[in-house]
Amino acid sequence: MRQIPTSRADAVECDRADPLAARHGLFNLPDGIAYLVGHSLGPPPATAGARLNAAMQDWQSDLVRSWNSAGWIDLSERTGGQIAALIGAEPGEVIVADSVSVNLFKLAAAALPLARRYVLFVEEDEFPTDQYIAAGLAGVSGAEVRRLPSGGTFDALNAGGVYLKSAVNYRSAEVADIAAHEREAAAHGALILWDLSHATGVLDLALKADGARLAAGCTYKYLNGGPGAPAFVYAAHDIAGLLRTPLPGWMGHAAPFAFDGGYTPREGAARFASGTPPILSLAALSGALEAMDGAPLSALQAKARALSAMAIARVQAMGLEVLSPVEDAKRGGHVSVRMAEGYPVVQALAARGVMADFRAPDTVRFGFSPLFLRYAAVWDALDALADILASKSWDQPQFHARAKVT
Ligand SMILES: Cc1ncc(COP(=O)(O)O)c(C=O)c1O
Repeated sequence: MRQIPTSRADAVECDRADPLAARHGLFNLPDGIAYLVGHSLGPPPATAGARLNAAMQDWQSDLVRSWNSAGWIDLSERTGGQIAALIGAEPGEVIVADSVSVNLFKLAAAALPLARRYVLFVEEDEFPTDQYIAAGLAGVSGAEVRRLPSGGTFDALNAGGVYLKSAVNYRSAEVADIAAHEREAAAHGALILWDLSHATGVLDLALKADGARLAAGCTYKYLNGGPGAPAFVYAAHDIAGLLRTPLPGWMGHAAPFAFDGGYTPREGAARFASGTPPILSLAALSGALEAMDGAPLSALQAKARALSAMAIARVQAMGLEVLSPVEDAKRGGHVSVRMAEGYPVVQALAARGVMADFRAPDTVRFGFSPLFLRYAAVWDALDALADILASKSWDQPQFHARAKVT
């Protein structure tokens, strides 16, 4: 049974009963901070620092030999294996490499020749990079791009092209039904390239079981991999062997140290590796993923839903308009609220130790990363929001000055 706290005492009780409660201790969050931006940049678990330091030590002591002695050469694949367990994929179906943007390009280019139509589809409220990549790929491939209305992918699958689609929308947090989309895609010769950036680490994903064949996702949000942590590629075994990356760098070659002039791709998703992997970032990411070891995906999803349901009830009571689905099963890990004065409100919250983010023109997002958040801390953060709104304390000049990153 889902338990939604309706008082602070309830929230404290939920913390006591929380099967993930001990994970909070793996993060050294500064005192007095309610970190509601795990959907943007997750905080560092101690295990991330430990692995990063160990890689530094290897670099210091074993120098270039570390590619072999510390297993750096396989770190992208090993880390991909850790992520595979979090998305319902099999070993060999996930590789860590590059950014989401670059991975979307590689995957979409590789998918185009396999779809029934040489057309890229993307919804108009999809994360901007997905839209830019679709347009950029169209420019170099000659594929056509068709814009779809928000939520229009499912109905357009019968056109049989390649579809870039977020499993959780970055703005609204709306969840797409992966299995239903994949059934429809299979019936029409369409291929869906899932953007899992806002879904990984917070949803009970079952990519393989749902019939998903291609995906990319980021690791610096709910996976806490660190700023600019490398992204991942998922390519299902049944399709990977047919995919030709448009960026066939040497690290995706079956034998990079044969220095062969001809290109032979590696097996599985590993063919989407391109250049030399960023070992220090990978080490931090691999350590961060250890903080999730043994945390059931169902528990992560249930806690994110309980926290966000609590937040929705409270912000609605403050008279705010919630832009995210109120039905739990349709919502990812964050809650978006419409606030015309969202930017100064977010600054005023930060001054009280509550970190949220603002997405122009009028959206404030509160992220409910289940691994480290406590119910009582979230309850208190919402008290602070109520106070800031009631007192209008956000309306001070220092809260209106815009920074580059919002
Ligand atoms: C849904 C989504 N896709 C893609 C990206 C961009 O990822 P990257 O910067 O790794 O290219 C983001 C970044 O926040 C995102 O939210």
